[in-house]
Amino acid sequence: MHTVLVTGGCGFIGSNFVHYILEKDPEVNVVNFDCLTYAGNLANLADVSAHPRYRFIRGDITDREGVRAAIGTGVQSIIHFAAESHVDRSIQDSGPFVKSNIVGTQILLDAARAANLQRYVQVSTDEVYGSLGETGYFTEETPLAPNSPYSASKAGADLLVRGYVHTYGFPGLITRCSNNYGPYQFPEKLIPLFISNLMRDQQVPVYGDGKNVRDWIHVRDHCAGVYRVWKEGKVGEVYNFGGRCEKTNLELTHTLLKILNKPESLIKYVKDRPGHDRRYAIDCRKAERELGWHPEVPFEQGLRDTVQWYQEHTAWVDNIRTGEYLKYYERQYVERER
Ligand code: NAD
Ligand code: TYD
Repeated sequence: MHTVLVTGGCGFIGSNFVHYILEKDPEVNVVNFDCLTYAGNLANLADVSAHPRYRFIRGDITDREGVRAAIGTGVQSIIHFAAESHVDRSIQDSGPFVKSNIVGTQILLDAARAANLQRYVQVSTDEVYGSLGETGYFTEETPLAPNSPYSASKAGADLLVRGYVHTYGFPGLITRCSNNYGPYQFPEKLIPLFISNLMRDQQVPVYGDGKNVRDWIHVRDHCAGVYRVWKEGKVGEVYNFGGRCEKTNLELTHTLLKILNKPESLIKYVKDRPGHDRRYAIDCRKAERELGWHPEVPFEQGLRDTVQWYQEHTAWVDNIRTGEYLKYYERQYVERER
């Protein structure tokens, strides 16, 4: 048996990953380490809370002693998802981004090194590469050029991992994935926000001209990629993941209107995001070549399934929208004004 510490397991991708790895690998014990920020929701893992190979520890990655104690429970490797993840929030206040994403990563790296762990996977993002024009793709060799406080903090963390690999021979690997969609995504991000607004006949705020392009990938394909990197990736390497599925925000919005059978009058153009990256597109051939990984979920099907998931889980969204989900953990929730 191998025990892996998954940080941020109560968030969107982390909770999908915990489900994925418990199902995929009977030789793995999962310790989920998450401090439950506004984005962390224990409901995301309610169905595995009593699983014999799963354990939850509420803890903050910026708490050195808490991290050391969690690793001391028999952990052999770390897969690090925990982060502040929303660009718009980073524009309002970059403080929590620097703290969790940079300082938190440094503390995890030091603790992993002190405990002599076998493997450490840094889950990063394509946003560290900056923005593309109308052509071209991000490869693993593209220079880092982050444009938002969020992506700058993720790039800082990536560089720390690189520095630890180079200096100490630390067993670190980095993944960089494009925009994910799927179940359990917090309804502040484009797809879950728009689905839940449209389901309630509320307008959807399209930033600027709506022509910004994102490369969409189903969260299950991303989880499969992170798992492959953890199992088979080469220490010190970076692996890009993407869905080969570029859409403008307007194209995506029209597809959602169609699936949900709603009128175009629900589109509301609003002021653009400051510094809004124009286009992301990933070249994921390295992961395909070296790990035998491929994006498998067709976008149209994945999006329909995601809409259906939100339709079948209205209580999950309602609990977030009302703040009810936080009452269990006595946390504060400040709803972002839009
Ligand atoms: P999320 O915001 O849904 O979840 C983040 C989780 O981390 C939450 O459960 C939160 O409680 C936890 N967390 C935050 N700060 C913490 C801290 N200091 N200590 C312990 N736990 C903490 O994020 P997500 O969308 O699931 O993203 C997960 C990771 O994947 C992030 O590192 C993000 O940068 C990366 N990523 C996301 C996407 C995407 O499209 N969402 C794409 C590529 C990479
Ligand atoms: P988002 O889901 O925040 O992901 P990211 O900024 O990390 O790519 O946004 C995806 C795209 O959708 C991005 O171009 C910004 C745009 N967007 C809107 O137009 N309206 C919204 O309300 C949100 C949240 C995003």
